[in-house]
Amino acid sequence: MYEVSTSILNVEKGKEAETFLKLEKARTDYFHIDVMDGKFVEKDTYNDMINSSLYIKRTSNIPLDVHLMVEDVFTGIEDFVPFEPNIITFHLEALKNDEEVIKAINLIKENNIRVGISIKPKTKVEEIYKFLPYIHVALIMTVEPGKGGQTFITEMTEKISTLKNYINENNLETQIEVDGGINLATQNAVKEAGSDILVSGTAIIRAINYKDIIDELKG
Ligand code: DX5
Ligand code: ZN
Repeated sequence: MYEVSTSILNVEKGKEAETFLKLEKARTDYFHIDVMDGKFVEKDTYNDMINSSLYIKRTSNIPLDVHLMVEDVFTGIEDFVPFEPNIITFHLEALKNDEEVIKAINLIKENNIRVGISIKPKTKVEEIYKFLPYIHVALIMTVEPGKGGQTFITEMTEKISTLKNYINENNLETQIEVDGGINLATQNAVKEAGSDILVSGTAIIRAINYKDIIDELKG
């Protein structure tokens, strides 16, 4: 079985409450909160994601999986800790050096939240190796971060299996989460490559029956 984290990035404005309830009934494992600051990526979803996180925290028991696509990682962590997410993931590319990465990891852990580090498609998988023993989730971007509805980058499949082999060879327990263009056509490639958590936005939000597609992605 796989875990499914539904991205709320493209939920229709004004239909958030009913969509979140439908996703809860469909048993998504997480709500994937795509936080964008308009600097690390072009779009700015910051306030919308704060509002949605607050609403979900108040109305649902489904865990939050926060994906920070922001330049100021430390402020991002501080801003989302109050919603008690299950995971906070930041981008390796947003930090200047190893000391900053360790500082971000510790800040998330001090708040009893699981730590994720994400790498963009062009970032080499080896760059995350040294942090794997200290984090819970490695989020492999299978599209360029910044918007939903993009096409899965097939070359990322090899990156996922390379990472999975390294995790197994080093007896690590880090989970692999994949994000971007994940749907019924691309799910097998990422599952066979070793993914544990599948993020999906457009494929689920556009589906007529959320539970059918979430169950397929979990299978
Ligand atoms: C892109 C986001 C992804 C995206 C996933 O920057 O991090 O979570 O919203 O949406 P789909 O599944 O439509 O690619
Ligand atoms: Zn995301």
